Amino acid sequence: MTTRRIYLETFGCQMNELDSELVAGQLSRLGYELTPRAEDAHVVLYNTCSVREQAEQKVWSRLGELAARKRRQPSLVVGVLGCMAERDGEDLIRRMPVVDVLCGPGELDKLPALLDNALRTRESLSGGASARQIALQGNTSRRSATLSAASDDLELLDLSRSISATPPGAGAYVRITRGCNKFCTYCVVPFTRGAEVHRPPGHIIDECRRLVDAGVREITLLGQTVNHYRFEHDAEQIVNGIVQPQKGRTYKGSHNRDAFAGERVTTFADLLYQIHEQVPDLPRLRFVTSYPRDFGDDVLQVIRDCPRICRYLHVPAQSGSDRVLRRMNRGYTCAEYLEFLDRARGFLDQPEVGRPLMLSGDIIVGFPGETDEDFEQTIDLVRRARYKNCFIFKYSPRPGTVAYDRIPDDVPDEVKRRRNNDLLAIQEEISDAISREQIGRTFDVLVEGLSKRSLKHAGLTKGEIRRKNAVALTISARTRETTVASAHRPQLSGRTDGDLIVFFDTPEGQNPDDLIGQIVSVRISHADRLSLFGEAL
Ligand code: SAH
Ligand code: SF4
Ligand code: F3S
Repeated sequence: MTTRRIYLETFGCQMNELDSELVAGQLSRLGYELTPRAEDAHVVLYNTCSVREQAEQKVWSRLGELAARKRRQPSLVVGVLGCMAERDGEDLIRRMPVVDVLCGPGELDKLPALLDNALRTRESLSGGASARQIALQGNTSRRSATLSAASDDLELLDLSRSISATPPGAGAYVRITRGCNKFCTYCVVPFTRGAEVHRPPGHIIDECRRLVDAGVREITLLGQTVNHYRFEHDAEQIVNGIVQPQKGRTYKGSHNRDAFAGERVTTFADLLYQIHEQVPDLPRLRFVTSYPRDFGDDVLQVIRDCPRICRYLHVPAQSGSDRVLRRMNRGYTCAEYLEFLDRARGFLDQPEVGRPLMLSGDIIVGFPGETDEDFEQTIDLVRRARYKNCFIFKYSPRPGTVAYDRIPDDVPDEVKRRRNNDLLAIQEEISDAISREQIGRTFDVLVEGLSKRSLKHAGLTKGEIRRKNAVALTISARTRETTVASAHRPQLSGRTDGDLIVFFDTPEGQNPDDLIGQIVSVRISHADRLSLFGEAL
């Protein structure tokens, strides 16, 4: 039988990127071949995002294009994975008969079986007929069975991660928590990813260790509210020899270690410390996304005391108006948020040793009922927070959420657009100022590879550069990179531990390949809004 080729494209957040990596690994172990070219594929998979309508629109239009192709190639199998499948499954099927496979983010361990069935059916059918295969969590979340000692097969997918041939300088994601319990009124994630589930610390540490053994230099821990991580060892369950992930519980008050005196608990602070100590060859450890509430001093202390944990926090505020925050169900006030930033800076901001604390944020503009005054308060918050960068989104009503059902989307689009642009302009000023403040400082830079400029010089196409991290392209792109890198003195790019991008030329007499993946001391000589430029010392 010929090898089936799969094209897998990812939309959305880091959680989805990790899911795609796991799915790709699982499918290639089963003998499928991953291809970077959609037109050569027997199977086209989109791993989708539902967080804003715009994200979904992209997938709708891709599917529309595939419908025409499927008339020419009836054996083509099309799959929609991820959050959109979970949120929009029924509608997708009704409107897009081209879709053969639907698989929610909580069911990805079932994908090989679905795909195999769909392929067999498709190939034995003479076009037209349906080969439809569906796995969604729906309302009857099978994860809820976890506590009653059913095995969590999704955990097996994470555990089976194939870790091999990591390109030098590569980073990796490691999931620590799935799902979310917060139910911010605008957000689909609790519906698409289900309830919060924490992975056992042993699995996480082991995964970090295996990644580092394979050459990974930076690990980013993932969770929607990553600092809420908590694993209770007294409640640990083992099924078929495997420790099971654990449902999150909602705790009022402090997440400090002291709050759990007498209990055998791994808190987020404990987890960070344990990874730092037990994976000593990992140069950089970071985590996203932090929730501004319940961020205990214990976590800040661990970050301060562990030199290989990055001085970088992504802590979305969403709004600077208490009225809006309340209606978003965020559970903190603007003052509490800013107090947290002050506390974090107090512990972690050390520009004098090249370790300024860098913050990034998310803001939603045009949430229902947001007045000019509310928006002014958001501007104020952004100015005071001084993010190095901030993602600004126009509110997008999402069916199924509380805001969609109960609060009319009454801010006109042109107002949303204007607020978006105003805030972007303010953030640009701040980013620019922060960049310039770094001139004259010396940073440890983790070198990730040749800069885009050098890659272009090396003859890579724009598409190849953009998709440099795509599974199948990496190898071929790197081979050419390596060949050309040895021919001249190219520019390298990397990041500080505060996530600032740095460019510098390969020092005279050195081979750039030897520096990729290393930490190099770079003195910053000039800067623009997005990047720093300097010389290696
Ligand atoms: N768990 C993270 C965020 C996950 S979603 C957190 O709580 O911070 C990523 C970002 O998308 C959010 O921070 C928010 O700014 C934005 N977002 C989520 N739902 C949205 C919506 N309905 N409209 C516009 N932006 C939204
Ligand atoms: Fe969505 Fe809020 Fe959960 Fe973040 S914390 S994923 S914004 S519900
Ligand atoms: Fe999108 Fe789902 Fe991530 S909705 S942001 S892909 S969790």
